[in-house]
Amino acid sequence: MTEKQTVLVTGGSGFIGTNLVRLLIGSGQYRVVNLDALTYAANPLSLADIVGDSNYEFVRGNITDRQLIASLFEKHQPTGVLHLAAESHVDRSIVSADDFVQTNVVGTYAMLEATRAYWNNLAGDLKNTFRFLHVSTDEVFGSLGEDGYFSEGTPYAPNSPYSASKAASDHFVRAYHHTYGLPTIITNCSNNYGPYQFPEKVIPLMILNALSGKPLPVYGDGSNVRDWIYVEDHCRAVKLAFESGKPGETYAIGGNNEQKNIDLVHQICSILDEIAPPSEAPRLREQGLKSYSELINFVQDRPGHDHRYAIDSARITRQLGWQAEVEFEAGLRRTIEWYLSNPQWVDQASSGSYGEWIEKNYAERGYAQKEK
Ligand code: NAD
Ligand code: TYD
Repeated sequence: MTEKQTVLVTGGSGFIGTNLVRLLIGSGQYRVVNLDALTYAANPLSLADIVGDSNYEFVRGNITDRQLIASLFEKHQPTGVLHLAAESHVDRSIVSADDFVQTNVVGTYAMLEATRAYWNNLAGDLKNTFRFLHVSTDEVFGSLGEDGYFSEGTPYAPNSPYSASKAASDHFVRAYHHTYGLPTIITNCSNNYGPYQFPEKVIPLMILNALSGKPLPVYGDGSNVRDWIYVEDHCRAVKLAFESGKPGETYAIGGNNEQKNIDLVHQICSILDEIAPPSEAPRLREQGLKSYSELINFVQDRPGHDHRYAIDSARITRQLGWQAEVEFEAGLRRTIEWYLSNPQWVDQASSGSYGEWIEKNYAERGYAQKEK
């Protein structure tokens, strides 16, 4: 049996991080040290069942804290870093980008500096096989019209403060490879969905609003398009890129699954109509509603709203043999069932400052136009 590798994961308590930590530990190949600040986006219940696992260690801390990162390198001697910690919600970045610059830009810089110092002192094989994998987004490429796809060669054109901060972090990662030879890999993935996603993002927001009989706020006319990938497919791609990707390479990752927002919301409603019938849901019954889709409301659009994202994943398929496996209808159903089966997780996520955010983001958008 080969010895387990220790890896440092940042942001392991967030949505994708939780799924990735589970995959890494479940593979039997890794010991995971998870560095996470536990911001509003983390849920302590997400990894509660693996807290006692001897292959898991949690460290609460900030990725801007270079001394802390250096001490983790010193103590755990990891064979690589999977860097996910970030501020991740576009609408919050529009309200204020302060935390986005701090975490996504300054934090990534701190991670790179601490990693470089550690990596420089590694010898032989350990130095050659070490990898710094940076998890990024397709949003750095801006917005597509009706045709075409983002790929690794697409010029950067970030449009939101969130994507600008991710683009800046990608550029630092690239520069550390080019200048210092740090063995970095960047993945740019499309919109993820699945279990453990914080309910500020559109899919869990729509599921949970629907179940509570609240309006379903579709921005603008609902014609914006996202390419949805099941989170476990993304995590498999990240693991593969970490293990077999080429240093200095970037990989575009997508679900090959474009959906207009309005169609997505209708699909959520029709699955809910089937598995949680409105006739049996008190909040729907008291409003006399026969379908969750009657809750759909068009609200004021997001400023600078990117029209369309779509990814050509040919490189990672060709080089590493990866492809998305989870079919959308099945993944969406699995996701909805997960939210229905985990009310405690949902309560925890919806407590604290979440209500204030919902008030701030939606109060002025107005629930004017019901769908006909
Ligand atoms: P998330 O918001 O659910 O989780 C982010 C995690 O990072 C949280 O656990 C939070 O506590 C932690 N964190 C935030 N600031 C920190 C700091 N300063 N120090 C330490 N920890 C901190 O985000 P997610 O959706 O899981 O995204 C993870 C990564 O994947 C991000 O880098 C994001 O840009 C990227 N990404 C996300 C998507 C998506 O659809 N969600 C798609 C492509 C790429
Ligand atoms: P989101 O989940 O915030 O992801 P991103 O902005 O990173 O793509 O939003 C996905 C899409 O859903 C995006 O086009 C904006 C739209 N949206 C709504 O229509 N209503 C909402 O309440 C939210 C949060 C998003």
